[in-house]
Amino acid sequence: MSVTAGARPFTARIGRIEISATMAINAEATTMRAQGVDVVDFGAGEPHFATPEHIKQAAIEALEQNFTRYTPVAGIKQLREAVAARHREDFGSTYSFDETILTVGGKQALFNTFQVLIDHGDEVVIPVPYWVSFKDMVEYCGGKCVFLPTSAADGFRLTAEMVERALTPRTRVILVNSPNNPSGAVVSPEDLEAIAKLAASRGIYLMSDECYVYLNYTGEQFSLGSLTEYKDSLLLMGSLSKTYSMTGWRLGFALAPKAVVSQLQKLQSQSTSNATSIVQKAGLAALISSQECVAQMRAEYIHLRDRMVAGLRSIPDVQCNLPEGAFYAFPDVSAVAKRAGIDTAELASRLLREGHVVSVPGEAFGMAGHIRLSYAASAETIDRGLERVRTFFASL
Ligand SMILES: Cc1ncc(COP(=O)(O)O)c(C=O)c1O
Repeated sequence: MSVTAGARPFTARIGRIEISATMAINAEATTMRAQGVDVVDFGAGEPHFATPEHIKQAAIEALEQNFTRYTPVAGIKQLREAVAARHREDFGSTYSFDETILTVGGKQALFNTFQVLIDHGDEVVIPVPYWVSFKDMVEYCGGKCVFLPTSAADGFRLTAEMVERALTPRTRVILVNSPNNPSGAVVSPEDLEAIAKLAASRGIYLMSDECYVYLNYTGEQFSLGSLTEYKDSLLLMGSLSKTYSMTGWRLGFALAPKAVVSQLQKLQSQSTSNATSIVQKAGLAALISSQECVAQMRAEYIHLRDRMVAGLRSIPDVQCNLPEGAFYAFPDVSAVAKRAGIDTAELASRLLREGHVVSVPGEAFGMAGHIRLSYAASAETIDRGLERVRTFFASL
């Protein structure tokens, strides 16, 4: 008698995670577009700019020079040095190349670091609202997420006192993500320093997801890496995706104590190996060339943010904090949802089906009552989308 392979259950660990919540809404938007519906997309978590020309050119040259073989798992030495050097120049950190590893997007740096540090029952403190993948990454390791609520009324402020109340003997990692996806909030350098001090004093790792670190509009670019006295307990997760408009290229990195990097290297050697060779050359060009393109994109995002926020604030029953970084507005639309007698998941779904605007409901980020709207779009798209939001909300 034969037994089909499919009759067996899948692993417990794959059963603990779900497909990204943003995928469902994007799939619905794609279907609508295929049917000819003109959809305004405020759902995307990526820059609308093209990758700068000199970065593309470096990849073309790498291809032409047949730079197409395996590289060392952690990346070519020149690039590891360039990542560390850029960080040192921009933030005053002190990482060396062997405290640096290149990964397939920032996502792999985060995923692998959790795999290396989190065992069953270990706790990770995650401020809310949080980026969708953190929860599933921790749960895939068998870890426990300890969610720490912040509030829009307080500007999503995160303090060491709040973090301290969430700590237990099982806490292994405290996670911060500033500028934040989805709220756009920036934690002040003073609050970050107090959290770093707390983590170090308790022997807990402080993981800083700095994917949006260069999209900070406060005028004060800050990385936790500048606090060199806490280096032993810091895990910095970086990405070139948003900084250089390189989401599809898949290049990220971790800056961490040598012992952690060596474990990350081991894990990566048994899974993906190196980040794509020609992408590494493109990344190198991005890091060692003029940073003017980053400054230009940052300046443009500030205009787009102001346009989006002013538009949202002019819609009745919508409240919106001014995001200080990243490229998302995270308005409180609970009064609109309440008026319609629905939750914000349903509101976002109807905004798509009836208003033809893609947004992501706050439920996906652990904070119902809000929706996330990306302003990484042209000014014309923002105006058109806002008009649709206004008309749809008025109809409820
Ligand atoms: C907060 C945050 N961290 C990490 C990432 C991962 O980005 P990537 O894997 O493209 O580097 C994203 C992407 O949306 C993000 O929003």
